[in-house]
Amino acid sequence: MLTATLAVIAPATGAGWDPVALEDLPAPLRQSVSEGRRLFMEEGFGGNGRRCTSCHLEGGTRRGHLPDGRTVPSLVGVAATFPKYKARRERVLTLADQVQICVAGGIQGRPPAQGSDTMRALLSYLTFLSQGRPIRLGGR
Ligand code: HEC
Repeated sequence: MLTATLAVIAPATGAGWDPVALEDLPAPLRQSVSEGRRLFMEEGFGGNGRRCTSCHLEGGTRRGHLPDGRTVPSLVGVAATFPKYKARRERVLTLADQVQICVAGGIQGRPPAQGSDTMRALLSYLTFLSQGRPIRLGGR
């Protein structure tokens, strides 16, 4: 089902992302990606009712906007740009750090611990969204 969903959204997201390879993954990794997508779409982390996809539209495959007009980036290709330096925070962030920031900030919820099953699944899904993209350390 995940593959079918992604096959539908893939053409909208631009070149360089190859979700077809999902079928070649070992079942446990495929399940982790799938669970990560479910969390991204449904999990509230005990917060303000927002989900990841409330801001990162369509499972993170589309760009969005906050009420104040700030752009919310599409997350396709983003995992391949971490770790990155965020000047606003004056530190180098890993992808897991960024997930915790979004849960604590945007969702005002309890961030999943580094190394937890929840974090593992979210990172699996986010990395899946960069399938086929070259690493661009610190890039956009
Ligand atoms: C309230 C809106 C909102 C919610 C909800 C939200 N985010 Fe974000 N997210 C943002 C904004 C705004 C940015 C850009 C911040 C920046 O660049 O510093 C961002 C950035 C990111 C980035 C880095 C993008 C980049 O190009 O560096 C990732 C990865 C990410 N979010 C993942 C998530 C995940 C996973 C969730 C759910 C656990 C989530 N976000 C929930 C608003 C949100």
